[in-house]
Amino acid sequence: ELLRLLRLARPEAGIMALAIVLLLISSAITISIPFSMGKILDLVSQSRIQEHSTSMDDRTASFAIIFSGLLVLFTIGAAANMTRLVLMRIAAERTVMRLRRLIFDNIMHQDLSFHDQNRTGELISRLSADTVVVGKTITNNISDGMRNLTMASVGVGIMMYTNPNLTGIMMLIIPPAAGAAIYYGRIVRNLSKQTQNAISETTKVSEEKIGKMRTVRAFSQENREVARYGDAIQNVYDIALRDGRATAVFYAGMMYSGNLLMLALLYFGGQMAQANEITVGELISFSMYTVYVGGAMVGLTSFFSEIMKGLGASTRLFTLLERPRNIEQATGITLPAVRGRVRIEDLTFAYPTRPDTDVFRGMCLDIPAGMSLSFVGTSGSGKSSIAQLLLRFYDPQSGRITLDGHDLRTLNPSWLRRDVIGYVPQEPSLFAASIRDNIAYGVPDATPEAIEHAARLACAHDFIMQFPDGYDTMIGENSVGLSGGQKQRIAIARALLKNPTILVMDEATSALSSTDEALIAQGLAQAARGRTTITITHRLQSVTDKHAVVVVDGGRAVEFDEPYKLLQNPEGAFSQLV
Ligand SMILES: Nc1ncnc2c1ncn2[C@@H]1O[C@H](COP(=O)(O)OP(=O)(O)OP(=O)(O)O)[C@@H](O)[C@H]1O
Ligand SMILES: [Mg+2]
Repeated sequence: ELLRLLRLARPEAGIMALAIVLLLISSAITISIPFSMGKILDLVSQSRIQEHSTSMDDRTASFAIIFSGLLVLFTIGAAANMTRLVLMRIAAERTVMRLRRLIFDNIMHQDLSFHDQNRTGELISRLSADTVVVGKTITNNISDGMRNLTMASVGVGIMMYTNPNLTGIMMLIIPPAAGAAIYYGRIVRNLSKQTQNAISETTKVSEEKIGKMRTVRAFSQENREVARYGDAIQNVYDIALRDGRATAVFYAGMMYSGNLLMLALLYFGGQMAQANEITVGELISFSMYTVYVGGAMVGLTSFFSEIMKGLGASTRLFTLLERPRNIEQATGITLPAVRGRVRIEDLTFAYPTRPDTDVFRGMCLDIPAGMSLSFVGTSGSGKSSIAQLLLRFYDPQSGRITLDGHDLRTLNPSWLRRDVIGYVPQEPSLFAASIRDNIAYGVPDATPEAIEHAARLACAHDFIMQFPDGYDTMIGENSVGLSGGQKQRIAIARALLKNPTILVMDEATSALSSTDEALIAQGLAQAARGRTTITITHRLQSVTDKHAVVVVDGGRAVEFDEPYKLLQNPEGAFSQLV
């Protein structure tokens, strides 16, 4: 699991390697300080005793060499350190960026059944919060971990060299410290997972309530939503507090044992110094190494806990990244020319989120190329579901839908959606962009003339021109700034601009008055020429001029004929609806 996490930083391996080299340089310089300090102190104290035997000039000269040498070294160390920090930051930010792109790419390409199951706020939280935790922990920690590891081992090496006996005493602290670190690491990993979940819970609440502000306001539920959000952040706070307590105990314990160690060092070291087994300079440099090594040990344990944190936050990212997709969007054949014949053969379908409820059971329908037909049926009978299956948002459990004789599952879904089918969804949603960009969403390089033509067919041109900014009028988020009917007409224009072979309109004119609808019908009749047009509607008076009507009921197409013929049977499903 750790390897999988570290692999995310692999593209930064070059930068990180360079950073680690610089890190080793600056650590080597830092670690040489106590050693040279001990030497200087011994030089000073010895020279005081043996003042008569060493000439003044010799002493000054060796001091000058030592000091200027150290100055140069420190400067190099500072430069190396600075460059390392910049490089590490670059690696971290690039990893976060790459992770975000990867996650967003994955979210964009996931099956719709995945989006049925996951709430927007949760996905946003993965994208914004989890990626940062994961990206930063792996890059920053690899470098910090390396430094602490070298500091600790080199420090211990020098200590061994200076005084093996004293070092032996110091090493007693390692096993209990390592044990504590592992225990603490487990707690942290768990808490980190909980934190990320709690944060995503707050995003879920805030994202949904802010997005549906008008509904909240209309029902005057602001205070309840504030309270709900309060609960969610209280949860984050509680977990953070638990994390804080664990951290406090851990770090204070580490510090405490470090200080106890210092006490032991002074006790034993002092005795050794009195017995002249160790010089004062050595004792001082030894204690400095103890501080360094102790710091590195604490660093190593926090390295461990940070990696655990990354692991905790990465679990959810990996479940997303490794989720198999049932409908690969870019694979499959494309047809050179599409005529537009659609056949539904013995179709059985249930939504993946509700597998026990069949929406269709043995549905059959043969729609000849170029036909205009209306789908009617009671609410919830499955009219919109047909459109979703036609767009291959989902695959049926059994049976198949064919286009010009090809099973939809063999066709390239991207091509099908982009080039073949024009779709006006039942609840058209427009983007927070200009009207022009919204109409051109499926054909980004459309000419202004083509956009205007599509808008005219959809009876949208006139009202668009009444806005001061015309086609450049900005639409707000959730289509704020447009009436329901205006929104629908822009959605129709957006579908028509693609010049699709098959046009599917799901209640596309439900928000318009009958007169407006009749106007649009003319434009659409013109647009329908040469296309297969499927109109899903509740307005039965508007179906009479269509070629044919399909009545959907009980998971099947129960009637399929010209409307006046269907009306001749007063017991028929269509007559009943009328
Ligand atoms: N994403 C979904 N996940 C699970 N069930 C769904 C989903 N979408 C629709 N359903 C269910 O499938 C059935 C058919 O829904 P559909 O939207 O196709 O009906 P409809 O005929 O378009 O109704 P209306 O006329 O009200 O728009 C309904 O019972 C509905 O609850
Ligand atoms: Mg519907």
